Amino acid sequence: MGKYIINGGNRLEGEVRVEGSKNAVLPILAASIINGGESIIHNVPYLKDVNTLVNVLNTIGCSCSFEGNTMIVNSSGELNINIPEKPVREMRSSIILMGAMLGRFKRVKISFPGGCEIGLRPIDLHLAGLKLLGAKIVESHGYILCECDKLHGNEIHLDYPSVGATENIMLAAVSAEGVTIIQNAAREPEIADLQEFLNKMGARITGGGSSTIRIQGIREFQNVEHTVIPDRIVAGTYMVAAAITGGKVVIRDVIPEHIKPIISKLGESGCKIYRHDQSIGISCSKRPNAVEFVKTMPYPGFPTDMQAQMMALMCTAKGTSIFIETIFENRYKHAEELIKMGADIKIEGRAAIVKGVNDLMGAHVVSRDLRGGAALVLAGLAAEGTTVVDNVDTHIDRGYDSLDTKLRSLGADIAKDEN
Ligand code: EPZ
Repeated sequence: MGKYIINGGNRLEGEVRVEGSKNAVLPILAASIINGGESIIHNVPYLKDVNTLVNVLNTIGCSCSFEGNTMIVNSSGELNINIPEKPVREMRSSIILMGAMLGRFKRVKISFPGGCEIGLRPIDLHLAGLKLLGAKIVESHGYILCECDKLHGNEIHLDYPSVGATENIMLAAVSAEGVTIIQNAAREPEIADLQEFLNKMGARITGGGSSTIRIQGIREFQNVEHTVIPDRIVAGTYMVAAAITGGKVVIRDVIPEHIKPIISKLGESGCKIYRHDQSIGISCSKRPNAVEFVKTMPYPGFPTDMQAQMMALMCTAKGTSIFIETIFENRYKHAEELIKMGADIKIEGRAAIVKGVNDLMGAHVVSRDLRGGAALVLAGLAAEGTTVVDNVDTHIDRGYDSLDTKLRSLGADIAKDEN
């Protein structure tokens, strides 16, 4: 289980380095199957989700070695096309192995990922896209069997700019005959990073990061070496940690362009923000102002993965803010826990009305999902007294590399209890 014990009230100060991006490294690890050779991946964070995917790669026959923050994946030889069930159930994004395996082996069997804490999360767009590339898909007994004689390029218009569906289609289309065009593609920076990795492998993709992606399929792939982009959501989380404690922090190894929507909302709340090439400075000397409206949107809109952290900050603000969560139908579980700490939050469907309070109070709270868990840690940093955040291993460790150590290096009073 694991829990954090936090004594609030310390003003954070100093510098912190952001680790590599979880949501970029996961599809890149899946892509390492495609070349049937070696992939050297730098800036890989130490995360539970990375371990889960590496276990899958090892189980199907790859060999993965991890030194420092560099992962070497060797996917040569015949891999097992049956993806083990347990890891897929544990981590939904294992589903992107489907496109990579189908492209290379023309066949893959994988279990349905099912929903998770934040929503039902269907994969209809993934399957529709792969069918348009020529895959025959049979769903039975909780499994998906995908096969084809060969994949052929096609024009695919996504009903919704789904990150996962865009990645799965890219991972298959690089091995298809002819050209694939993805319209209304997801524009997240992690997509552009996947394109860069695949192009270093010999693929010919353009448009990653825009809503139209063009993929010219090829036959031969080569060994590759790549450095994963920094994690923009982790960067945003440390920025809120500075804001909620009235602190002054420099965040290193971040791409400011990727966090523009977060910078703009924190600016609205009264924080002073300084952008440099690969770092951001943030200082907040007084109580934040309420940000009137926070609506989560696909990139470059305000990221849903920052909604909970922003809500924790607004719980301490002067005034009332309104949140609209447009991406996931069940992503307010942290609100109940924040209310235990004295927050004033009303949930109405996809809307949350947050009235800022003078003080949050320490309490025993439970992480219900990854970002919600991070938000409770941030609230604990600002709260009076002691906060105990439960379920750290299950949720927070999935997406944050040494969160407590890094916060302590900024002056936070936080300790991890492994029990
Ligand atoms: C990615 O999830 C991220 N995960 C999520 O981050 C992030 O919240 C999400 O994109 C949105 O930005 C990874 O990259 C590993 P989607 P993904 O497909 O790919 C619906 C975190 O905290 N949809 O863009 O699953 C879906 O239900 C995680 O790090 C369909 O209806 O997101 C959702 O409502 C959480 N049919 C919306 O689209 C489909 O076939 C967005 O999903 C696919 C998606």
